Amino acid sequence: MNFSFFMPTRVYEEENCIKKHADLLSQFGKKAMIITGKSSARKNGSYEDVCNALNLYDIKHVLFDDIEENPSIETVMKARNVGIAEGVDFCIGIGGGSPMDAAKAIALMIYHKDSDATYLYDAKATSEHLPVICIPTTCGTGSEVTGVSVLTIHEKKTKGSIKHRIFPELALIDGRYLKHAPISIIRNTAIDSLCHLCESYINTKSTPYSRMCSDAGLKTWKDIKSLLLEDSLESASYSELASLMRASAFAGISIAQTATSIPHGLSYPVTYNLNISHGMACGYFLSAFIEAAPEELKQHILYLTDFKDAKDMHFFIKDILHFMPISDDTLQIAKKELCSNQTKLQSAPFLINESVIDSMYENIKSWS
Ligand SMILES: [Fe+2]
Repeated sequence: MNFSFFMPTRVYEEENCIKKHADLLSQFGKKAMIITGKSSARKNGSYEDVCNALNLYDIKHVLFDDIEENPSIETVMKARNVGIAEGVDFCIGIGGGSPMDAAKAIALMIYHKDSDATYLYDAKATSEHLPVICIPTTCGTGSEVTGVSVLTIHEKKTKGSIKHRIFPELALIDGRYLKHAPISIIRNTAIDSLCHLCESYINTKSTPYSRMCSDAGLKTWKDIKSLLLEDSLESASYSELASLMRASAFAGISIAQTATSIPHGLSYPVTYNLNISHGMACGYFLSAFIEAAPEELKQHILYLTDFKDAKDMHFFIKDILHFMPISDDTLQIAKKELCSNQTKLQSAPFLINESVIDSMYENIKSWS
């Protein structure tokens, strides 16, 4: 037996978390770069909370709010040029996976200021980076507790993780930021976190330590399942909102140990070609992957998430996400890409080949 577990991010989770831990921000430097999307951080109050905390300790900041969904290498390089010109010495990513993943890549590239974008995918290059603080405002990516940064690679018409593992130094988690988020985003991201939990559990790299986290996450996810059927979270309690965030963080800690598996591997070309959200693209394949898994693993997941069978899970996901149709052509591209990705194929603890993927597709069609 040979197990390891590594999760170096300091995590605080509580109501008014940024305000209560404002002092920690002053440890990272004198000028921060706040990295976020166009508007949500302003709407949910997280941007204001961060500004107030920085002002309290006289820390300057520059705002880069041009991060698109599925951020591209080009956007990362544009932000890095701003960061270098402004002389920032740490990065704060606020938002969903896109700003947090981008913040990690930007922090890497500011540090290596003489390198070009090929550095991101250079497996032999060193991974020193500016300190990164992550503040999640959605409940799916878990990027605040992983070293992963997934970027869009337009040249290859897909997405891919950079070759560097960049864990945030600090994650500040506050469920309040979910309260006014559109329910479609909550549903999409919560299904992404379910995928992370299941793909980490059904994984050749899973260990008793990673399963401690995925089991806790699956139990927490079951408790918030019914919230996803609501039309909004306006009347949700802080404890419910915190559970949504916690399920996502447990899922992040799980995939930080194992990485994701087949549904994520199939999802990347679907997201790229059809512009379907990440949660929906992964959720489309999840139940068929669970159905294909060894019985013991499948039953464990279904028991913890309280679904009768894989079809029941598929209908739940389909009903809340309103799946967009995925063409046969795109499914074939997804299959081809997955079958050429040895790392993803080997992540499944059972045989995955073209015919297994075809039967997964058949199950999905028969459940639709
Ligand atoms: Fe994901």
